[in-house]
Amino acid sequence: MARFQNKSGFALQSDAYGPPPTYEKTAQSGSKWAPKNWSKKTLIAVVAAAVIILAAIIIGAVVGTKENAYPDYSRLSYSLQDTYSGSTFFENFDFYTGYDPSAGFVHYVPNTTATSSEYNLTYASTSSAVLRVDTTDTDASTGRYSVRITSKKQYNDGLFIFDVLNSPYGCSTWPALWLSDPNHWPEHGEIDVMEAVNQATTGNQMTLHTTDDCKMDVKRKETGTVLAKNCWNETDGNAGCGVSGAQDTYGEAFNDNGGGVYAMEWRDAGIRIWFWARGSVPSDIPTDVTNTTAPDPSTWGEPLADFPGTNCDISSHFKNQSIIANIDLCGSWAGATSVYSDEDSCPGTCEEFVTSNATAFETAYWEWSSWRVYTAN
Ligand SMILES: *[C@@H]1O[C@H](CO)[C@@H](O)[C@H](O)[C@H]1NC(C)=O
Ligand SMILES: *[C@@H]1O[C@H](CO)[C@@H](O)[C@H](O)[C@H]1NC(C)=O
Ligand SMILES: *[C@@H]1O[C@H](CO)[C@@H](O)[C@H](O)[C@H]1NC(C)=O
Ligand SMILES: *[C@@H]1O[C@H](CO)[C@@H](O)[C@H](O)[C@H]1NC(C)=O
Ligand SMILES: *[C@@H]1O[C@H](CO)[C@@H](O)[C@H](O)[C@H]1NC(C)=O
Ligand SMILES: *[C@@H]1O[C@H](CO)[C@@H](O)[C@H](O)[C@H]1NC(C)=O
Repeated sequence: MARFQNKSGFALQSDAYGPPPTYEKTAQSGSKWAPKNWSKKTLIAVVAAAVIILAAIIIGAVVGTKENAYPDYSRLSYSLQDTYSGSTFFENFDFYTGYDPSAGFVHYVPNTTATSSEYNLTYASTSSAVLRVDTTDTDASTGRYSVRITSKKQYNDGLFIFDVLNSPYGCSTWPALWLSDPNHWPEHGEIDVMEAVNQATTGNQMTLHTTDDCKMDVKRKETGTVLAKNCWNETDGNAGCGVSGAQDTYGEAFNDNGGGVYAMEWRDAGIRIWFWARGSVPSDIPTDVTNTTAPDPSTWGEPLADFPGTNCDISSHFKNQSIIANIDLCGSWAGATSVYSDEDSCPGTCEEFVTSNATAFETAYWEWSSWRVYTAN
């Protein structure tokens, strides 16, 4: 019974049925290098070798194409959807209160405490919005007062422009400006636009956190430094797939320059983040928030971080994202001894520092000129 099915699906009929193939009859008459004189065994071996070579060529071509695959980031036309600015800035947010999901040494206070004249942790005027850590309590032995705000509005794509005047830094701090759906994490994903710890000497970190099947092991076009390529939260203890910027993309150097603008474009093709220091912001990003003219990312050139959708289905991994800003203290990243003491050379333990060193938190504040969100037409 001889119907051989090889791995490529070719069927080789043997001579168990019907007359023998003609090549056997003439086997003695010619050279054994002529295919028609080959034995069945040789023929099968040659066909098998040819199939293997062909398969190798196809796999090689597919792998080569995959390595070169890059999404179509062609121009989208945007319209202004939301502006967060002015003295009503904080009206667009819920104040997160309760225990800190990242195990930080912090009390996130409600709006009433944050806006009280005693603490003044959130403050908005016509020119900017400030979010800060308490600098008065010299015995914050159960954790220091801070703020975490979550936009009431949720987004499913768009162009987000964050005009940042000051970024928080200092020993024990873990600030972030990010997007997530905290009630459906990691299923709906997380996009970290600005994040750093302690003295923030290693620059800004931009990171995605997702469920499985979202990797950045593909062609990318970015100026930042790749830290990790698997965005799945179960990889490297939920480190995410991060990209870091130069030292002056966050912290003291960034602030000394008057801050700058971060732009994050989130579309099915991928997620990209640009940064410009104050003075280098492209002219199509109006400083004046009453100017509703939409910017055009296709003119901006290479971003600082590029998270293409090549090996990550963006629309299924990122949904219903609120914009979140907070300043955590200690916790799993800033407070880890290997980071707090070893890498960042901060004094004592993180919790001791937070408890007693109130005035150290004078550098721990966010100040934003505006946030703007545009949607593609
Ligand atoms: C916060 O409290 C102030 C009064 O202290 C109030 O005017 C404002 O509407 C509140 N904002 C939010 C977001 O709850
Ligand atoms: C609150 O902070 C803002 C910004 O730093 C400041 O301008 C304002 O005077 C402060 N308000 C109070 C009551 O301390
Ligand atoms: C990752 O997310 C899953 C849910 O999808 C959760 O059960 C798990 O605890 C998370 N792991 C980490 C390290 O965050
Ligand atoms: C609005 O901003 C755009 C882009 O920066 C600029 O070209 C335009 O002149 C501005 N319009 C006004 C009225 O200032
Ligand atoms: C996103 O939020 C909207 C409004 O809250 C809700 O109706 C929708 O079901 C959410 N989508 C997902 C995928 O959970
Ligand atoms: C308090 O913070 C300041 C500023 O970061 C630092 O110079 C000082 O060493 C800290 N003091 C203690 C006791 O940790």
